[in-house]
Amino acid sequence: MTDTRHGPLRLRPAHERDAPFLERMLLEAFNWDRPRFALAELLALPRAAHYVSGWPRAGDFGVVAEDARGRGLGAAWARLFPADDPGYGHVSPSVPELTLAVASGERGRGVGGALLDALVLAAEEAGCPGLSLSVEDGNRARGLYERRGFVPVGREGNADTLALRLGG
Ligand SMILES: CC(C)(COP(=O)(O)OP(=O)(O)OC[C@H]1O[C@@H](n2cnc3c(N)ncnc32)[C@H](O)[C@@H]1OP(=O)(O)O)[C@@H](O)C(=O)NCCC(=O)NCCS
Repeated sequence: MTDTRHGPLRLRPAHERDAPFLERMLLEAFNWDRPRFALAELLALPRAAHYVSGWPRAGDFGVVAEDARGRGLGAAWARLFPADDPGYGHVSPSVPELTLAVASGERGRGVGGALLDALVLAAEEAGCPGLSLSVEDGNRARGLYERRGFVPVGREGNADTLALRLGG
């Protein structure tokens, strides 16, 4: 069991009311190495905002990590994108793209790994053929993915597209 600052970690499905929290976690993902964007700036960029806009859409699924007080610590979620409106880690319209982030003060204690495991399980249960994502050069998050079987399948700019094949 992973412990947070306030007791054991709890994982639960992401609901419609979590949309503002997912927006904050999207910001953490885009600002992974430095403060590049404010939230309003990020959400004004269609190619970024479409990871969360209208949450939840048909086919979306996600997991939220909370501490014992119900405070959000991080989230992982997956969304399908059509070929003419891809995310940064697109491989196929039938393979959802994964977004993962943990609040900055809570990293390095297993929250991200637990979220990733739960999301992969949810993808398997949903019958997804796989999951994909984009990881920029230098992001240590890459190790989390590779330890779970994600492999590089493409490259765009300074980022690799990683994908995990599932049985669905
Ligand atoms: C990546 C992230 C979700 C991992 O969550 P976490 O709770 O710190 O992860 P865990 O404690 O389960 O596992 C630690 C692993 O996470 C990775 N990691 C990435 N950034 C990290 C950070 N700032 N602190 C600690 N671990 C980090 C490493 O692979 C680390 O493994 P290592 O010890 O072998 O280097 C989290 O650090 C984060 O939100 N980073 C900013 C957003 C981001 O980069 N999202 C992914 C975009 S592809």
